[in-house]
Amino acid sequence: MKPIPFSPPRIDEKTIEAVVEVLKSGWITTGPKTRGLESKIQNYIGGGPVLCLNAWTNAVELVLRWWGVGPGDEVIIPAYTYAATANIVMHVGATPVMIDCEDGGFLIDLQLLENAINGSTKVIMPVDFSGLPVNYNAVMTLAEKHRNVFSPKNENQEMLGRILVISDAAHSFGAKYNGNPVGREVDVAAFSFHAVKNFTTAEGGALVFNLPLPFDNDSIWKSINRLALHGQTKDALSKTQAGQWQYDIVEAGYKCNMTDLQAAIGWVEMDRYELDHLPRRKAIALRYNQHFDSYDWAIKPVFQYGSAESSYHLYALRVRGFSEEQRNTLITHLAELGISTNVHFQPLPRLSYYKNLGWKESDYPNAMGQFQNEISLPIYFDLTDEQVDLIATSIIQYMSR
Ligand SMILES: Cc1ncc(COP(=O)(O)O)c(C=O)c1O
Repeated sequence: MKPIPFSPPRIDEKTIEAVVEVLKSGWITTGPKTRGLESKIQNYIGGGPVLCLNAWTNAVELVLRWWGVGPGDEVIIPAYTYAATANIVMHVGATPVMIDCEDGGFLIDLQLLENAINGSTKVIMPVDFSGLPVNYNAVMTLAEKHRNVFSPKNENQEMLGRILVISDAAHSFGAKYNGNPVGREVDVAAFSFHAVKNFTTAEGGALVFNLPLPFDNDSIWKSINRLALHGQTKDALSKTQAGQWQYDIVEAGYKCNMTDLQAAIGWVEMDRYELDHLPRRKAIALRYNQHFDSYDWAIKPVFQYGSAESSYHLYALRVRGFSEEQRNTLITHLAELGISTNVHFQPLPRLSYYKNLGWKESDYPNAMGQFQNEISLPIYFDLTDEQVDLIATSIIQYMSR
């Protein structure tokens, strides 16, 4: 049997041609393709201006820096996420406040989130795990409700007068909320275009700025774009035009721009994402569901609630009653058959770095419960129905033994 990879990117002749075109164009770093991808994404989402950078991680770290988050400040995040969500909080010297999952689900527990809000809270950053949007309305309502405890430290914080809400939408590009693609519901939405994500530019990420008036989101775009390029007053493309060499550096910025080579991959994806990519992912998820429907041991992932619909980024199956060891043995069995699977995620308190800083797994019973029997099955555009059937029946046969 041909091995089944976990999550290869959707690359075909169209993608290759698009990248080759940029390679031949004489301009390969940030330029018209990157700016064009931003416009395409903004048109798709219908929110504020979009800034594409080289990763979710660097993009959101810059937002934390722009917002002035630092020592003594707290950023509320879920314990059930990838390390990037917490690491950037450590980078800026602030404290991540990790919240357990809701009972029986992968998303952040909103009551525990609310209990954690205090005068040091500067940001709430929930995660759309597996592509399922969190209840953005509820999170925005909490930020509003606790205006009275917010203690601003700078002009921007004074102007907003409440906690900033950033969505870690690394998984949820193309997910729907109230019928629209997510990205316009919170102050800043942040997507990842990493190679394993639904929508990829190899590495990359995008920010959507939706701050309320009197904020000028175009000028926030400019500030963060400048911060992503050494604090330089002119971008590389403008600087290389004949006679345009002069520039200034107005702050000690960072370096995390997206290249046009990457953006070219995104152009191809954007044009077909709603047309065939998302529908295919959904069809795969529903096909797995059909296989597992009649088995009590299968806890199928949630793809919809209320007006929220997933981007079908992960098929996060859970096996009722399985211990971590039993789950790991199933993964090994599937690997022997040539089927690659994965686990999303090890809760942050389980990772050495955070454990050594004092976080305890025992404080996160729901997250540990979700983790121990979770197995992420392959889900990607080029996965065939036959492969889905093979993966599902391999698991069912294993369970019946
Ligand atoms: C939930 C979550 N947040 C953030 C990231 C970081 O994204 P990037 O690799 O684009 O920096 C990831 C990447 O896997 C993720 O899964």
